[in-house]
Amino acid sequence: MTLIRKAVFPVAGLGSRFLPATKAQPKEMLPVVDKPLIQYAVEEAVAAGINEMIFITGRNKRAIEDHFDKAYELESELEAAGKQALLEMVRTVVPKNITCIYIRQSAPLGLGHAVLCARPVVGNEPFAVLLADDFMDTDAGVRPVLAQMTDVFEYERCSVLAVQDVPREHTRQYGIVSAAPYRANLELVSGIVEKPQPEVAPSTLAVVGRYVLTPRIFDYLENIGIGTGGEIQLTDGIAALMASERVLACRYHGQRYDCGSKLGYLKAMTAMGLKHPETGAGFAEFLKELSARAA
Ligand code: UTP
Repeated sequence: MTLIRKAVFPVAGLGSRFLPATKAQPKEMLPVVDKPLIQYAVEEAVAAGINEMIFITGRNKRAIEDHFDKAYELESELEAAGKQALLEMVRTVVPKNITCIYIRQSAPLGLGHAVLCARPVVGNEPFAVLLADDFMDTDAGVRPVLAQMTDVFEYERCSVLAVQDVPREHTRQYGIVSAAPYRANLELVSGIVEKPQPEVAPSTLAVVGRYVLTPRIFDYLENIGIGTGGEIQLTDGIAALMASERVLACRYHGQRYDCGSKLGYLKAMTAMGLKHPETGAGFAEFLKELSARAA
């Protein structure tokens, strides 16, 4: 039996880097080819054996709730039109045996606060956090990123953070860890700071949007108060957690696209558009034409 049964999806951020697209919908509903970011993230959680999805929503929550709900009108119209394949696609957006729970974050007080909002539902068990705007692509045959991390948890029984190396000038966009090699692809974390300036960053190893956390994090999040940017930071909660528990950083196998930024989103769309069975060949042709025109 899998030890991690619950995943938290904080989707209450303002998404200000993506305005005006995010004026009336959360950025997690932006599609990569034909699926919204949040659906990819839920599928990644399902692949890790998780069956309870907890969404921390904000002012524009409707679209996500509707996306994972039954769509009566659409389904009956597709059925009447005999569009079986599309009907099946719509019906299986949420696989069977998956429960979706929605909790409202009263105000966008930070990622740490959003995670804390999940406490009444998560209770006293380890859980995953997925930031859907960090889109993770893995090659065929490679375990999805969160599953790589829950595998580590099963063995090590401690919190696990997904990390990747970033250019030093980008440290101010991430939580940055100090860490020492532990075993293959794993580092033992000895410190973590939120968005350090490049000249003071302890390393260039950045935390990205996948976490497996022990429930003790909630005790710390309750008490840490306001941090960088005037928000309650998950990073500060993790820094406090490290005083009492081991925290590991996992150099996952996979490609991350920062879909909270315009450039990252375009890269994800391009990579996935080239891979998609319906669009791949035509899109590759178009990209060739485009670069010929530019030359
Ligand atoms: P970001 O730092 O990407 O912030 O949040 P944001 O507000 O979504 O986007 P920008 O920077 O304004 O463009 C990281 C994650 O934490 C969630 C966001 O939805 C995102 O998934 N979050 C952040 C919350 O759920 N609540 C918050 O109060 C803050």
